[in-house]
Amino acid sequence: MSDALRRRTEAIAMSTLVAPAARDRLRIAIQKSGRLSDPSRALLMAAGLSWRESRDRLFCFGETLPIDLLLVRDDDIPGLLDSGVCDLGVVGRNVLAEKGLTRWRELRALGFGGCRLAVAIPEGDVWRDATQLRGMRIATSYPAVLRTWLRDQDIDADIVVLSGSVEIAPGLGQADAICDLVSTGATLAANQLKPVVTVLQSEAVLAAPRTACTGARGELVTTLLQRIDGVIRQRESRLLLCRAKAAALPELLRLLVDAESPSLMRLDGDDGFAVQALCRGDLGWQRLEELKRAGAHGLMVLPIERMLA
Ligand code: PRP
Ligand code: ZN
Repeated sequence: MSDALRRRTEAIAMSTLVAPAARDRLRIAIQKSGRLSDPSRALLMAAGLSWRESRDRLFCFGETLPIDLLLVRDDDIPGLLDSGVCDLGVVGRNVLAEKGLTRWRELRALGFGGCRLAVAIPEGDVWRDATQLRGMRIATSYPAVLRTWLRDQDIDADIVVLSGSVEIAPGLGQADAICDLVSTGATLAANQLKPVVTVLQSEAVLAAPRTACTGARGELVTTLLQRIDGVIRQRESRLLLCRAKAAALPELLRLLVDAESPSLMRLDGDDGFAVQALCRGDLGWQRLEELKRAGAHGLMVLPIERMLA
């Protein structure tokens, strides 16, 4: 944690005039600016939270619920959980992994910020397998994760630790390969590098210290988790409505195996049924055409507004 941030977070902790353990408001650390910041806020807003922002845009005071946000660098989030300044953090699994994954609890994988930590080599180099990394210099900002992975692969290589701009190290002659985050792959391509092997799969997670919150904050965590589960399910769910003759139902239900307990309602006056099914994942044109061929008609796909289990 930087000194400026430590001073600022201490000031915030002091301004509440209570020790972290005695706080009754919940505090969540999220990335201030970067790949995870917008989707982190969007998730929490979809979970019904809203805030008043401080002038320095570091602290957001929760209005709808007593849940405040601290906007920080992602690498500072594990430390903020350790020190008790924050109760929860939205952070990439890669950041936790580098500092020792088991020191925190991963409460939920959040389904955004997907990326992988991968070894990349110059585009012109031939890749056979990981054994060719033996004796190479590999530049990375993730020395701990890389060291563990190399040990598991029984590979002895030199790790060159860099805090940023890892992708330019091979071009500067500082390294033979790199191990860095790859999301779209654009950064590697722009530096004439190609990913060759994945070291860690990552996405944004909701992390917490090993000791769970109790009392009022514990209840807020339970409420928040329930809402986040609803948001995640809602985002991947669609409601399918259609009609079909009784004879077509067995085949239709077979095609809807991934749907949660489809409901069937007999229509008055003929042997038709109205079908309603909550589906996860893809309900694109191809799938609808398949259902139509199986005898469904009047097909409709509706987005879900909100879900509570
Ligand atoms: C990562 C990584 C690359 C870039 C890759 O940094 O270090 O620079 O993203 O993304 P791409 O494959 O879409 O080009 P990030 O922005 O996550 O910041 P940080 O690692 O410094 O926190
Ligand atoms: Zn970072």
